[in-house]
Amino acid sequence: DTAGKVIKCKAAVIWEKSAPFSIEEVEVAPPKANEVRIKIVATGICRSDDHAIEGKLSTVKFPVILGHEGVGIVESTGESVKHIKPGDRVIPLFVPQCGQCICCKDPRSNMCIAGKMKKAVGLMSDGTSRFTCKGKQIYHFMNTSTFTEYTVAEEMSVAKIDSGASLDNTCLIGCGFSTGYGSALNSAKVHPGSTCAIFGLGGIGLAVIMGCKIAGAARIIGVDINPDKFNIAKELGATECINPKDYDKPVPQVILEQTGGGVDYAFECVGHIETMLAALNSSHFAYGTTVIVGVSAPDSTISFDPMILLTGRTIKGSVFGGWKSKNSVPQLVSDSLAKKFDLEKLVTHRLPLNKINEGFDLLRSGKSIRTILLV
Ligand code: APR
Ligand code: ZN
Ligand code: ZN
Repeated sequence: DTAGKVIKCKAAVIWEKSAPFSIEEVEVAPPKANEVRIKIVATGICRSDDHAIEGKLSTVKFPVILGHEGVGIVESTGESVKHIKPGDRVIPLFVPQCGQCICCKDPRSNMCIAGKMKKAVGLMSDGTSRFTCKGKQIYHFMNTSTFTEYTVAEEMSVAKIDSGASLDNTCLIGCGFSTGYGSALNSAKVHPGSTCAIFGLGGIGLAVIMGCKIAGAARIIGVDINPDKFNIAKELGATECINPKDYDKPVPQVILEQTGGGVDYAFECVGHIETMLAALNSSHFAYGTTVIVGVSAPDSTISFDPMILLTGRTIKGSVFGGWKSKNSVPQLVSDSLAKKFDLEKLVTHRLPLNKINEGFDLLRSGKSIRTILLV
């Protein structure tokens, strides 16, 4: 029985900005009040982890244990934990849901004020870390830190899921799948018969396509500079794909011509200013909605002629697909078990945790959609 004791286990640590992962033995302290310790079983590799390594997420501190798309089993719980017990299958939530704050109480938002405080800088609410390695404190990441055999998270950052959920591709509900799928369903509210354009066909963009299809969109246009992504995009519901490199005019012009004036919904799933503007300019002048899903570099600014909005366009964004995390994740897992969508379509590779650097090479070279690390 490990409850109440420090656990020594394997984790992938990033010691400094731009460094590779090193597999280390770390100590994971027992959970304090309102916290749970989780044995991570599977965790996906997401572009945002790479942004963190590159120093593009301003709140990340090193050394750190990254990873925010995981699934596992609760090993033990701290004092005052009410709704989670050892043995429960869970998904850590990088957007918590405290249930008490002004955002949690507002149906329009899935943000949580609790997630913006201490934990945003890689520490637990009491200002300390649960990880040490070689005598040094290791920072947490996004309330989750899943590139480790064991992690600690607060109850408000953990969703209990169906006991029959797979401890494998279910991890994608922790970020990539839900972010894209919810962007279509919650943020854009794609309507039946509509026309959609998705810029960037990585894991996020493909999950947007899955959402657009389920919402009944009639035309789903995938846009990517890597045509290797077109087959899978079409398999998931894209009705056509555009490679900007095939045209000598700007993509918005191509889309405006092909759609008779622009799309109902445009999604930016790359994280670049240029594709954000291209998405906006591809949307219909009178009623087009653009949803920013990609994460841009810190201090980026975007500029456009405000007249572009005056006629009726909307531009908005969302994190984690607009899902209120603790409420929605168990339902998404149930929908997955009911085969409403197939997470496996997004999985291209599986590797053991100690090959994590290979997994990131696959992401950086554009060869993978999602790599699942088996911990
Ligand atoms: N135009 C169109 N597509 C592009 C362009 C461009 N100018 N530049 C890159 N892409 C494509 C890439 O070829 C790739 O297929 O965008 C896709 C991005 O996919 P991934 O790198 O796999 O990223 P993903 O995990 O889907 O995340 C996308 O959302 O959550 C954020 O941080 C994440 O900003 C990132 C974005
Ligand atoms: Zn992610
Ligand atoms: Zn809250």
